[in-house]
Amino acid sequence: MCTFTASKEKKMSKRYTITAALPYTNGPIHIGHLAGVYVPADIYARYKRLTGNDVAFICGSDEHGVPITIKAKKEGVTPQQIVDRYHKIIKDSFEVFGITFDNYSRTSAKIHHDTASEFFKTLYDKNEFVEEVSEQLYDAEANQFLADRFVVGTCPKCGNEESYGDQCENCGTSHNATDLINPKSAITGNVPTLKETKHWFLPLNKHEQFLKDWILEGHKKDWKPNVYGQVKSWIDDGLRPRAVTRDLDWGIPVPVPGGEGKVLYVWFDAPIGYISATKEWAAREGKDWEPYWKDEDTKLVHFIGKDNIVFHCIIFPAMLKAEGSYILPDNVPANEFLNLEGNKLSTSKNWAVWLPEYLQDFPDKQDVLRYALTANAPETKDNDFTWKDFQARNNNELVAIFGNFINRVVVLTNKYYNGIVPTPSDFSTIDEETLAAIKAYPSVLESSIERYRFREASQELMNLARLGNKYLADEEPWKLVKTDEDRTKTIMFVALQIASALATLSEPFLPFTSTKLKNILNLSSEELQTSWSEITSKEILLPANHTIGKAELLFSKIEDSEIQAQLDKLEASKKANEAANKVVEPQKDTITFDDFTKLDLRVGTILEAEKMPKAKKLLVLKVDTGIDVRTIVSGIAESFTAEEVVGKKVTVLVNLAPRALRGVESEGMILMTETPEGKLVFVNPDDTTIGNGLQIS
Ligand code: MF3
Ligand code: ZN
Repeated sequence: MCTFTASKEKKMSKRYTITAALPYTNGPIHIGHLAGVYVPADIYARYKRLTGNDVAFICGSDEHGVPITIKAKKEGVTPQQIVDRYHKIIKDSFEVFGITFDNYSRTSAKIHHDTASEFFKTLYDKNEFVEEVSEQLYDAEANQFLADRFVVGTCPKCGNEESYGDQCENCGTSHNATDLINPKSAITGNVPTLKETKHWFLPLNKHEQFLKDWILEGHKKDWKPNVYGQVKSWIDDGLRPRAVTRDLDWGIPVPVPGGEGKVLYVWFDAPIGYISATKEWAAREGKDWEPYWKDEDTKLVHFIGKDNIVFHCIIFPAMLKAEGSYILPDNVPANEFLNLEGNKLSTSKNWAVWLPEYLQDFPDKQDVLRYALTANAPETKDNDFTWKDFQARNNNELVAIFGNFINRVVVLTNKYYNGIVPTPSDFSTIDEETLAAIKAYPSVLESSIERYRFREASQELMNLARLGNKYLADEEPWKLVKTDEDRTKTIMFVALQIASALATLSEPFLPFTSTKLKNILNLSSEELQTSWSEITSKEILLPANHTIGKAELLFSKIEDSEIQAQLDKLEASKKANEAANKVVEPQKDTITFDDFTKLDLRVGTILEAEKMPKAKKLLVLKVDTGIDVRTIVSGIAESFTAEEVVGKKVTVLVNLAPRALRGVESEGMILMTETPEGKLVFVNPDDTTIGNGLQIS
């Protein structure tokens, strides 16, 4: 049942619950997250609102789970401190970037703890769980059961040696920790032992038939092939019970008898976060949350990355089905992965373009990143983001096509008519065709968006700007203005209609630009606002005699130097990473202070030096040690000539037992050290910096 009708929409409006995967709160958002999930979800939500639907666009921080505990341990802070820090960073950056969530909540919120607990209890009361004591992986040294990311081992499906306990990032398979071959504790590196513990399992096998009917039969045609294919292969492999509780202390306590000291599995609680966030939003807005999750007329759409498919297409639907009162997703348009300059994006390797940094470096270019990520979205296969492509999308498309068209229309209208939309006379065939083409655009875009093909849609939008440029180039109003006033007015009138259509249709794809353009065209008053469908139905979008504003640049060229700065930043993080991964030589055994005080070190001066005959490496030195002058044979002839060391101040170990080298008795040792580049240098008592920045003190 639809009760919501936007005043201007003729079409029946619908209720949409649109969710975007809740990001883990252990780091900021990067371009991979944006391209895979948040940009397409926001385009879809904006489009659905624009076309008069009732939309709840829901997201929030995923604040439980092992990665957060691990990060907290590493930093010596509490998990709550980690999630508080990143929740704020993530939420703020989404906002500045223009992602229009109706609610951005968090799973540490009370409303979420209550909702998830209640959900668990309902399934428990309905006997939807299997309660089982089983042997689980245990790290005796860390005193900790090893679930999820606390354990790594070989994936039983693809052989990846770094699979986690709950999921393999290489092939996407989700498994139980005990399925891993050669498991190792991620905490101590120990081989785990087995220890008995009780858990609650969701028997996915029980829901197999329903999943087959619902997805394999019901959604063969409308789900993306990459999503459908993955789901089919899991179902074909056979589904098994999955533990939905864990022996951890960070998470939502298991709310049933015997659950003490245990928490809900993060993938059990997180998707329920969509529901809690909807509740929180509805309460704030004075709405009823239930239709958004329980009314069969509501369309539920989950935007996710491909590593989340199993959880959104199998486990969460099985949970919703078991609970019994919820609707199921209508579609789960998961994207593939985005790479960066040819390499996998990686938080730990700092191989990423981080959203907060981007917003700092390009403070008014949100739309450029949105456009570059959309035009190159990893919709059907993994794709690569390059800074060169980003620059080209900006300079060759946004500036040269879209910006250029608008600028010409606005400048000429101001120049010829003082900014007043001229009255057209008879339309030529080209004019008629152009006006008809504008009217077709909403349905062209709609057809791409409804199939979740946002990159295609973004290119169609650019085609409308191209059409405008071509129209002006063909009709040449700047030439006709001298000879045919009426024709010039008609041309400018048509061009202004294109500009007006662009202002509305660009909103989902270039929201900041759309607002700017509406301001330039002076479209603030209610009757001048053209809704999406009115572009097709309205005779005239921008009426004669309406006054537009002055020209203002929508986009600006991005220079090579700005791109180079970004590439340099990436190069620096690659170097830092290589340095961090360099294998350091094992250190010698620790010595005591007493051992150290046995060394008698003195400052000496080299008085004489000569090469030892027939020995490549040795110099024979006469050294004044302050207590005596003695002979020292030193293996430095490959680094220094005899001449250059004479007169040098050096540090001498004087109580080393004398030793004969090639028949010459050596009575001590000159201390040397190596620079990071491997150059041999004296430990020079006159100078605290040695060679290239090597410090002694
Ligand atoms: N935090 C998960 C990830 O980043 C996504 C959680 S989606 C939800 O991969 F369904 F659990 F909310
Ligand atoms: Zn695998």
